[in-house]
Amino acid sequence: MSELFDATEINGMALSNRFVRSATWEGMATEDGAPTAQLIDLMEKLAGGGVGLIISSATYVRPDGQSHRKMLGIYKDELIDKHKRMTEAVHKQDTKIVMQIHHGGFFANSKLTGQIPLAPSEVEDSVNWKLPTGRKMSTVGKEMSLEIIQDIIEAFTSAAKRAKESGFDGIQIFAGHGYLLSQFLSPAFNKRTDAYGGSLENRARIVMEVMEKVRIEVGRDYPILVKINSEDFLNEGLTLDESLGVCAMLYEGGVDAIELSGGTWVSGDLRPSRKQINSPDKEAYFKEAARALKEKVNIPLILVGGIRSFQIADLLIEEGVADYISMCRPLIREPGLIKQWKAGNLTKAACISCNKCPEPGHAGEGIYCLAERRLKEKTK
Ligand SMILES: Cc1cc2nc3c(=O)[nH]c(=O)nc-3n(C[C@H](O)[C@H](O)[C@H](O)COP(=O)(O)O)c2cc1C
Ligand code: SF4
Repeated sequence: MSELFDATEINGMALSNRFVRSATWEGMATEDGAPTAQLIDLMEKLAGGGVGLIISSATYVRPDGQSHRKMLGIYKDELIDKHKRMTEAVHKQDTKIVMQIHHGGFFANSKLTGQIPLAPSEVEDSVNWKLPTGRKMSTVGKEMSLEIIQDIIEAFTSAAKRAKESGFDGIQIFAGHGYLLSQFLSPAFNKRTDAYGGSLENRARIVMEVMEKVRIEVGRDYPILVKINSEDFLNEGLTLDESLGVCAMLYEGGVDAIELSGGTWVSGDLRPSRKQINSPDKEAYFKEAARALKEKVNIPLILVGGIRSFQIADLLIEEGVADYISMCRPLIREPGLIKQWKAGNLTKAACISCNKCPEPGHAGEGIYCLAERRLKEKTK
């Protein structure tokens, strides 16, 4: 059988195969960030669908870090029991679940938080970034003081503690896609001249401090993963060379696995969820970056971004480009895809990478595959 179905482990977290559900905002949390019955049902479906590891949606560590509506939160102890229901539902199957801990930074939604977004450096209202949907971003961001930076590190640390208490099998520090920690890494956002800006080491300082504090809190034997950009694809953004440098620092700092992604929500066609992945050469769009990372750092690598075919996933593992295959949109459309592949039906994922699935989430219903829904309505 393919190596994709090997049993492996990441720092003691036993995984039944090499497939990962990449962190996916579902828009199915309560207003204060707890999982709803709708979300727990979806998690049960995903676990039953055969994926070895689920990474939760980005989960805000402080109320001022919320970037999307109906997002999961882990900023207060009262949420622990509510998250437990979700982890228990997943653990009924042979599936693990890791919480992705997050702060939106400049991309926090001030309509939801009621506050001016925090940012590594002040963002002026001359910046005219737009979201793919055409919704205009907040154009003002407030530079974080050194005191706030320490508070944010504490918030990530407490969030990790709560995640562990909620039964999550590990945590993933979200340092990609242009959100707060990624903003610090990126010269496009980080113009600081103190210890948290300038050189790569300085820009990576907050991520390393979060890692260090979280490690002390959760202990040596608890998996800590990091999701990071290979590149920002922005003018003055993080480059591949710099990203590899940060990954080497994370490795030295004791991270257990890296999920390699790229782009930000304002990187145009090169955003993290690229459209029109309709031929084999467009699949796995960060594979060359993954190859470069594997050459530099010997660390378990989770590859995400446009993987649609079993054969391509298989080759990525066989060639040692990646250790784990992570997918988001294919599993929105087909939560049972992995089970289907395991049973020998190797049909490519049905997802056409049209990026319509967030629309019902923005409308407050929770995400689903809108392309499939429309197709069904047409053929009725
Ligand atoms: C609806 C939606 C929600 C997403 N939410 C998150 C998230 O919460 N955290 C994250 O790291 N990435 C998020 N992503 C990005 C995916 O995890 C993934 O990196 C990207 O979609 C590329 O993988 P794919 O081609 O398999 O979809 C989201 C993507 C989509 C389409
Ligand atoms: S709407 Fe459906 S087909 Fe389109 S990207 Fe989302 S999951 Fe894929």
